[in-house]
Order: sequence, then structure tokens, then C-alpha cells
Amino acid sequence: MIKNNQDLTPFNTFGIKTNAATFARFTSVAELRTCLHGNEFKDLLVLGGGSNVLFTKDVDALVLRNEIEGFEVQWEDSTYAYVKVGSGMVWHEFVLRCLELNLGGVENLSLIPGSVGASPMQNIGAYGAEIKDVFHSLEAYHIATGDIHTFDLEQCEFGYRESVFKRKLKGQYVIVAVTFRLNKHPKINSTYGAIDAELKKMGISEPSIQDISKAVIAIRSSKLPDPKVLGNAGSFFKNPVVDFSIMEKIKTNFHDVPHYPAEIGTCKLAAGWLIEQAGWKGFREDTYGVHALQALVLVNYGGSTGQQIYNLSSRIIADVEMKFGVALEREVNIL
Ligand code: FAD
Ligand code: EPU
Repeated sequence: MIKNNQDLTPFNTFGIKTNAATFARFTSVAELRTCLHGNEFKDLLVLGGGSNVLFTKDVDALVLRNEIEGFEVQWEDSTYAYVKVGSGMVWHEFVLRCLELNLGGVENLSLIPGSVGASPMQNIGAYGAEIKDVFHSLEAYHIATGDIHTFDLEQCEFGYRESVFKRKLKGQYVIVAVTFRLNKHPKINSTYGAIDAELKKMGISEPSIQDISKAVIAIRSSKLPDPKVLGNAGSFFKNPVVDFSIMEKIKTNFHDVPHYPAEIGTCKLAAGWLIEQAGWKGFREDTYGVHALQALVLVNYGGSTGQQIYNLSSRIIADVEMKFGVALEREVNIL
């Protein structure tokens, strides 16, 4: 049922107070179809967990909250199980189901907030894994025609925090189901960041995927704020990929600048490091600021507007550009 004037505060992890002109929930493709084709609307916004959006104004659109559930092993071979998941399922609940079934591939992506349906939007990633590594295909509802189209790995054009749905096909589809290819004989991926050190702390030398998940949860919980306690949308900026020469220039003053291999001639810098070095870590003004434990995360201490947080992000971008000659790009969807 479509209602007028819905407060979206509970539907975004930044906890920004904003009003949707019209709002409805859908739990199936049939309900989605009814919402879209039985009603007049100017614009459409699909929301999962609202953990990667910043509302800077009221939303003069039909806002549809995706609640399509479902988890089904569709077929198996000797190595993989192919699991089709409803796009409204909470991502971490999906991860927990895989762990219960001892299906490997998403344990490094434990505790990422949001829905399964949003995971292909920006090819979510963490701790040495991205969904493209376990992705088989997705089904998406074409808003203009009402047809369901299937996209395979190649068609999704995944990149670092990128997909075809954020670029060429932006605003054209609602993702309704995702099929993952999960490993029945899980391979352990513990080399990234602090996972090995965390496992050592836990006294584990031969980790299972369940152990990896616990280690990732412990690391994430130690630096990322829980949106239930402190409003945020995770990393506000992407880690910038720059020419090697820019990194070398920074290195003349900062010998330990963290950098990671990227395409030939380029490398990825850590935006959190740049923001911290520019002096913003822990910055607070009124009700908003930069998280004290992770400079890549902007936070709402309660009562901020999205515009205030957006303005803060613009100040950070300008300052990092001035100090390091690096242009940061926002990761969060600005609405
Ligand atoms: P939403 O915020 O609801 O939507 C995001 C965008 O996708 C919007 O443009 C929306 O319109 C669109 N969209 C949503 N669902 C659909 C659909 N079914 N069909 C079409 N379009 C859709 N991300 C990472 O990659 N790695 C991390 O480690 C990570 N850590 C985080 C930690 C915290 C504390 C927080 C708050 C966020 C973090 N994020 C991370 C970001 C976020 O969790 C992911 O981007 C997640 O996939 C967003 O899911 P969502 O359902 O909340 O999407
Ligand atoms: N760093 C600092 N200061 C900070 C934060 C980070 O110096 O305040 C340095 C760290 O010391 C480290 C480097 O930056 O050398 C990287 O830090 P970290 O491992 O914490 O990861 P990140 O690059 O800040 C990325 C993702 C996260 C993901 C983690 C773990 C992006 C934009 N962010 O963060 O994703 O969880 O790696 O893999 O790629 C998200 O997208 O919302 C998100 C949280």
C-alpha cells in the first residue's frame, strides 16, 4: 500500500531526517509491479537497508523499500553450490546462512550492512574479497517495460565499488534476486589486513570460514561505528587510484604512505590515511564529524542534516586536494 509523507529517518543508517513524498514496501516481484504500474510517480528510489545513502533534501519521489526474502540452493556440482537469494534479504543474514551450510566465499564480507540486492550495485568489498568473486548472475526488473532481465558477471561490469547499475544503467532496474556461486570446499583467505593477527589473538592456527567470519567481525567492530549507536554510511569516500608519480611525490615527505597495487602505472592510496594526515580524524562540529577511529567514515552525532554532512565532505575533498594533490571521490550515494 502506498502512503504519502513517510519520515525516512528509520530507513537510512546516517539517521538523517527526511520526508518521502510517497512510500511503499514490496515483498515480491508482483507487489513491485503493482507499485510501479498502478501509480503515477515523478521519480523512483529503491531502498534496501539505506546504509549507502545520504539524504540532502526531501525526496520528491516514490520510495520503495525492498523486502523480497528467499534463500534457495538452485543447483550444485562437485565444487560449487549455486544459491539464489531474494534481494531484500539482509546481507549479513545471508552470510550467516552460508556459514551454517559451510559454503565458502562470503565470510570475509561478514557484517557489511544492507541488503543482498544492493550488493552488486557497488560490488561490495572488504578484507580481500568482493562479491564479483562469488557472483553468478542476477535478475532485475526493468522499470520501463516491467520485464525481468538476467545479467551475468560480464554484463554487470564490476569494478572497485562500481557496476553497470551505477553507470550506464543507473535508475533503470530494480534488482530482485542474486545468484551466488559458493564453494563447497571452502578456501581460506586470511592474508588481508589484520585477519591473520586477529586469528593469532584468538589462538587459531587452522581457521575455518566460521573463524574468518569471527575475526572479520572483531576487526570491523573495533573501528567502524555501529549505525544503531552513531549514524554513518561506512566509508564516505573511495580509496583513490592515482598515477604512481603522485604517490612518489607524497612519499618524499611521508615515507610510510600506505599504497596498494593497481593497474600498470597507478596505485591505490588509502583515503583514510590522507584524511587523517590532513588533520580531520576525530574532527567534530555541532552534530556531525569525522569518526575518531576511522577517518574514512563521516558521522551524525544526532540531528545533523544531510546537507551539513555533504558540506563537510566538500571541505575534506578540497583540503586533501590542496595538501596532497589527490581528488577524493564520494562512495556514498548523494540524494
Ligand atoms: P541502500 O543504501 O539502500 O542503497 C544503495 C544504492 O543502491 C541506492 O542508490 C539504491 O537506490 C540502490 N539500490 C538498493 N537496492 C537496490 C535494488 N534492489 N535494486 C536497484 N537498486 C538498489 N560497503 C562495502 O562495500 N564494504 C564495506 O566494508 C562496507 N562497510 C560498511 C560499514 C558500515 C558501518 C556501513 C553503514 C556501511 C558499509 N558499507 C560497506 C556500505 C553499504 O553497507 C553497502 O554499500 C551496502 O551494499 C548497501 O546496501 P543497502 O541495502 O543499505 O543499500
Ligand atoms: N588508515 C589511516 N587512518 C584512518 C583509517 C585508515 O591511516 O583513519 C590507514 C590504515 O592504517 C591502513 C589503510 O589506511 O593502512 C587502510 O585502512 P583499512 O584497512 O581500515 O581500510 P580502508 O581502506 O580505510 C576499506 C574499505 C572498507 C572495508 C575495508 C576493509 C573503501 C572505500 N573502504 O577501508 O569498506 O571494510 O577496506 O577491507 O574501499 C565501505 O565501503 O563502506 C567500507 C567500510
